[in-house]
Amino acid sequence: MLVTKMKSHNCGELNLNNINQEVTLSGWVACVRDLGGILFVELRDRSGFFQIVANPQINPQVHSVLEKVRSEYVITVKGKVTRRPEETYNEKYATGQVEMYPESVEILSESKVLPFVLDDDNVSEDVRLKYRYLDIRREKMLGNLVLRHKIVQAIRNTLNNKDFLEVETPILIKTTPEGARDYLVPSRVQEGKFYALPQSPQIFKQLLMVGGIERYYQIAKCFRDEDLRADRQPEFTQVDLEMSFVEQKDVIKVVEDIIVDAFKAAGVEVKPPFIQMPWQEAMDRFGSDKPDTRFGLELFDLGDIIMQSEFQIVKSTLEKGGIVRGIKIPGGASYSRKDIDDITKLAMSFGAKALANIIYQEDGTPKSPVMKFVTEEQAKAIQERAQAVAGDIIFFVADKPKLVYDIMGRLRLHFGKKLNLIDEAKHALLWVVDFPMFEYSEEEGRFMAMHHPFTSPCLEDLDKLDSGDLGNVKSIAYDIVYNGTELGGGSVRIHSSEVQKKIFKALGLTEEEAVEKFGFMVNALQYGTPPHAGLAIGLDRLVALLARTDSIRDVIAFPKNSGAKDLMSDAPGEASLQQLRELHLKSTARVNN
Ligand code: AMO
Ligand code: AMP
Repeated sequence: MLVTKMKSHNCGELNLNNINQEVTLSGWVACVRDLGGILFVELRDRSGFFQIVANPQINPQVHSVLEKVRSEYVITVKGKVTRRPEETYNEKYATGQVEMYPESVEILSESKVLPFVLDDDNVSEDVRLKYRYLDIRREKMLGNLVLRHKIVQAIRNTLNNKDFLEVETPILIKTTPEGARDYLVPSRVQEGKFYALPQSPQIFKQLLMVGGIERYYQIAKCFRDEDLRADRQPEFTQVDLEMSFVEQKDVIKVVEDIIVDAFKAAGVEVKPPFIQMPWQEAMDRFGSDKPDTRFGLELFDLGDIIMQSEFQIVKSTLEKGGIVRGIKIPGGASYSRKDIDDITKLAMSFGAKALANIIYQEDGTPKSPVMKFVTEEQAKAIQERAQAVAGDIIFFVADKPKLVYDIMGRLRLHFGKKLNLIDEAKHALLWVVDFPMFEYSEEEGRFMAMHHPFTSPCLEDLDKLDSGDLGNVKSIAYDIVYNGTELGGGSVRIHSSEVQKKIFKALGLTEEEAVEKFGFMVNALQYGTPPHAGLAIGLDRLVALLARTDSIRDVIAFPKNSGAKDLMSDAPGEASLQQLRELHLKSTARVNN
């Protein structure tokens, strides 16, 4: 450690080997107890705790200073490390066998009474975020930040050893193609113009490949103005990388090596290669492109059976391009009417118009309103498809594919949790591959890039681009999924300006729009572009999962709350009229007031 006048040792590293050593310790007073006139002070620093004892008979001066200290005062003490009487050994602390009767003590700074008790787990997150600098003193937060550091160092190490160059890319930029809303920064010098903050370094890392860097990485800040959730922050960090002269399998190998080393830094051993699951299979079996494979409850298709039946309403949905998927809940035949109503309501909150069910009664016969539409034989076929036995219930939904996958995927997760089926000891890492290139947006009435518009389509699908069969174009994109969370995503990129133009056209961008938005990128592709590919891992998510916490806020030193506010500094704040004038802006909020 770095020895200074105020600190020769860390509190938490002292033990019986240090007996009789003269040390200087500095830190915070975790607590003071007065036992029959003798003061016991728990001194805390980043490394841990150490017990200081003051006996008025031995050193009245030290005792009188320590009498004044309160919780969270910062003090420095000097003295010899001594052995505690054996009967007072404290197993809770690594330093529990030693203590110090200081020769001198100095108060370096006082503390007001804290607004909350540090180790009280019931303190609301808002209060902790308001006083984040205090919250960080808690063992849990400190532990999370230490873990984050270790993971980042492990990743840097792995990439450095593989010849990657760490290159910084700008924060004030034009716009990125990730598809979220940009944060804008008004320009003072260029009236009426705005910078955007990067949603990712995507364009710049590709330009670094054109620039001949060959292997790039960056621990990069990204900004996205989207609705926030536990695993989404307006600013977050990616482990961003890009490589030239590689194919999908090469990126996958590098990322698997990173994952192994990052997990190892968290004390978890995982073994690549991880399963590669085609996107369509993930949707069909799990209703999700980030399947949680720690439990079963896989979905099944009832389309072919129902098409034989008289179930007109579902048949007409299927005829219009819809699908029907079911899920079996073992033992669910015992659900009450109300249970089934609640599940139906839940499915409706996910967007279902209806949720059909079939109960397999104890005598093996099916019971369901749906039975009036199906023959006995068809009912048998459904039961076989569901692999249902007496005592089970199945649910199914028919609708447009995207909606059915979403509803059934979410129902599956609901039951997985509710029925305690998730094996928490498992580390389910897998790749989802063969993504569609485009996704039709009902809202926008056009096809959108599923990943981003620089992703390469599968070369054998290029003619579909020309014929307009966009729904069937696959891309060379891949996501890494851990326990049902998308950890990272990437793709092989387009390295031909002709193909790039075709993609922009398919996305409904006119040539002028494409030039205005991404012209410099299309230009760059014309000057000798190496085939290249890359990926970005969501660092906050990776650390949160390895820290076993539900919220990425817990692994970010100074996060925003769900309203994108920093409760500590009260950002975003108002700008003065002077600032607005300089930026050539008028605030409607101000005008309206
Ligand atoms: P993508 O948009 O999939 O890809 O982002 C990569 C990973 O970043 C994490 N992530 C987030 N984490 C916290 N808060 C957010 N708001 C947030 N948004 C995304 C996720 C996600 O998997 N440029 C491409 C990568 C590439 O193609 O190389 C990109 O940004 O874990
Ligand atoms: P009924 O209303 O009695 O004629 O029966 C219609 C049955 O079909 C109900 O059990 C509904 O839950 C079911 N149903 C209707 N539409 C769908 C749908 N899109 N997906 C699944 N089940 C449906």
